Amino acid sequence: MNKEVYFGSPIFKENNLNFLKSSVLKTNKYIKETKFGNSHHSEHLSNISEFKELTQYIGQKSFEFLDEQGFDLTEYNLYFTEMWVQEFSKKGGGHHDTHVHGNNHVSGFYFLKCSDKTSYPVFHDPRGAAVMSKLPLKKNLNATNTGNDLIHFNVKPGDLIIFNSYMPHQFVLDHGKEPFRFIHWNIQCVHKKIGKEIN
Ligand SMILES: [Fe+2]
Repeated sequence: MNKEVYFGSPIFKENNLNFLKSSVLKTNKYIKETKFGNSHHSEHLSNISEFKELTQYIGQKSFEFLDEQGFDLTEYNLYFTEMWVQEFSKKGGGHHDTHVHGNNHVSGFYFLKCSDKTSYPVFHDPRGAAVMSKLPLKKNLNATNTGNDLIHFNVKPGDLIIFNSYMPHQFVLDHGKEPFRFIHWNIQCVHKKIGKEIN
């Protein structure tokens, strides 16, 4: 019997060290230590000239991610609504509960400082109808089993991860043992024929 999978939930991942060292250095001044349980979030970075090459790289990969899914972007411009760097508290406890980035189309991470002792992202099944009617799961499922309700991602410095903005994601509790820093972004596709704003 043929087995085919439709309506997938793609997550793009590659390791790119070309921007790693320079991004760590450039983001240093945007990081502030914060209290237990928190993470420090920087200002918006995509309009800052020293991040121009990184922003172009992320933008191109994000475009390709949407294009490969079959979306016709010829009538759309892509805009960064947010692009910021964050570092979890060295005192530990940093985390993010499960969330989506509403009113955006493509999101992602570029990991600058992480290890097997730090937090990592977890993605959850975005199919509301599937979640509503989900059966109990077997133990030791493969990552590719379509019944999975979540997927853990082990990450290393230089990892770029891109996903549709509707994908629920979280960051598990960080113990503050080693630095955990990454850039997060959200992109919105806006129709080129968008009408005049309402005053
Ligand atoms: Fe997020």
